[in-house]
Amino acid sequence: MVCIRKATVDDLLAMQACNLFCLPENYQMKYYFYHILSWPQLLYVAEDYNGKIVGYVLAKMEEESSESHGHITSLAVLRTHRKLGLATKLMTAAQNAMEQIYGAEYVALHVRKSNKAAFNLYTGTLGYKIHDVEAKYYADGEDAYDMKKQLKGKKTQHQHHHHHHGGGCCSGDHKAEERTAGEDKKGE
Ligand SMILES: CC(C)(COP(=O)(O)OP(=O)(O)OC[C@H]1O[C@@H](n2cnc3c(N)ncnc32)[C@H](O)[C@@H]1OP(=O)(O)O)[C@@H](O)C(=O)NCCC(=O)NCCS
Repeated sequence: MVCIRKATVDDLLAMQACNLFCLPENYQMKYYFYHILSWPQLLYVAEDYNGKIVGYVLAKMEEESSESHGHITSLAVLRTHRKLGLATKLMTAAQNAMEQIYGAEYVALHVRKSNKAAFNLYTGTLGYKIHDVEAKYYADGEDAYDMKKQLKGKKTQHQHHHHHHGGGCCSGDHKAEERTAGEDKKGE
């Protein structure tokens, strides 16, 4: 049995270890603390019956952009525990919290063009759409798909219409990227 639960500060080292096993994009411990201190409801872990952390999702809000939206910073499941639906559950938990607790309009993430497993998870299972391609996004020069999924959030309430009629795409998004470029370039 593997359970999905909200992460606590005591899980951060195990999350970092899982990240190091699974992905080339790694973060200093202070970046995990930054996430959990800022958005404590947006970090989830998958824990096996021995209390071992076998997967995690690290997510945050981009609050200063025109539409409040969530961003998946990192997601991984240990090789021994893949294809069991754990990533789907971790992502769903984070997306629900973004929508319900933080009022996110949509959620965004980056994924390597070559990462078939993650791409299938995002497009097939979770309903993300390709929004853009970011050339050479990753440190090794690989391109990223910039993907988005609309959440129900506050979609029908204030703020929504005039942004869409602007024609351009998400000016607030660019600001957010500039603001966090130093730290976030290594994001998914
Ligand atoms: C991507 C990853 C998180 C998926 O985790 P997971 O728990 O195995 O995913 P799930 O079991 O929830 O799979 C859901 C769907 O994703 C897709 N998928 C998952 N693994 C796949 C694979 N190896 N090949 C193709 N599609 C795959 C399938 O569509 C799957 O649905 P299905 O089981 O009905 O076929 C995991 O492979 C991983 O940790 N990879 C390394 C780290 C990484 O790439 N993180 C994402 C960075 S953007």
